[in-house]
Amino acid sequence: MQALSNSNSTKSDANRVRALSDEIRALKSRLNAVILAHNYQVPEIQDLADFVGDSLGLSQQAAKTAADVIVFCGVHFMAETAKILNPAKTVVLPDKDAGCSLEESCPPDQLRALQQTNPNFYTIAYINCSAAVKAISDVICTSGNAVQIVNAAPPDRDILFVPDENLGAWVSELTGRKMTLWKGNCYAHVEFQRDGILALRERFPDAKIVVHPECLREVRDIADEVCSTEKMIKYCTANPARRFIIVTESGILHRLRKECPGKEFIAPPIYDPMRMPTDRCRCSECKYMKLNTLEKLRDCMLNLSPRVELSPEIIERARIPIQRMLEITAKSSSR
Ligand code: 13P
Ligand code: SF4
Repeated sequence: MQALSNSNSTKSDANRVRALSDEIRALKSRLNAVILAHNYQVPEIQDLADFVGDSLGLSQQAAKTAADVIVFCGVHFMAETAKILNPAKTVVLPDKDAGCSLEESCPPDQLRALQQTNPNFYTIAYINCSAAVKAISDVICTSGNAVQIVNAAPPDRDILFVPDENLGAWVSELTGRKMTLWKGNCYAHVEFQRDGILALRERFPDAKIVVHPECLREVRDIADEVCSTEKMIKYCTANPARRFIIVTESGILHRLRKECPGKEFIAPPIYDPMRMPTDRCRCSECKYMKLNTLEKLRDCMLNLSPRVELSPEIIERARIPIQRMLEITAKSSSR
């Protein structure tokens, strides 16, 4: 009886996903829309999107789209970036509350105050920040191009890296450039702990450890590879290993399993001190990324809301460091 009701609910869920997906596809062609989705989105959204990728790939796609409407399935700062690159287009997102702890950690007035303490600062802002912070930064970077962006910074300037201290420390190690680091972090990535991952590797000694640079240094230090989510896909595809421990938000596992059939991907558990001892273990999910659902995606296309709206001054100023990032990235990848 139990098995029958489980299989009925799986069937009705599959029907729900199919019906919603058909509705979204019809809306997409009616609106001449493009759906861009981050690697952390739920599988149903990834499967429907025109492009799934990391922050760098998504901003490159946003910069060249010919669509009239951009539907951004990610978090708010990503949709803002798409709007800054396309001021005349309509940019909508499924949930306007999809924020980011890094963005929250860096209010523009506090950044401005720090910048005023040293006129020689050259501000490199990780893309995980608000449009207002981008507008007062010299250049933007993502985890996929941070090394190139730091290497391209004028050698006589003092780098101020905001808002992720972990990404900043990693890129400082790789480039040898000293920098002042803003004290922000990703609340989800700093929950990964070295001991838990080492215990997993003891169980699976053949597994490669792949870590996002937003993780703590103690975790980065035991990695076989530290990279952006898109580079994780490339690394796992090319590497002959059959098993990988993937230390980032668990949404990435969907693409990894699809694009690397026959390989095994393991999400390390994280430990939540707020929970009872019997229920301490869970996989890492970004609560903001996971606010987006197929229903909300359909609704934002039906209503063309919530929409990203920014003032023309912010758009004009924030566009400069984003364009600079895209140009530096294009130049270094054509070399
Ligand atoms: P990527 O650009 O590597 O996908 O990272 C985005 C992000 O928000 C990581 O938490
Ligand atoms: Fe922000 Fe972390 Fe979520 Fe990425 S995973 S969007 S950095 S809170």
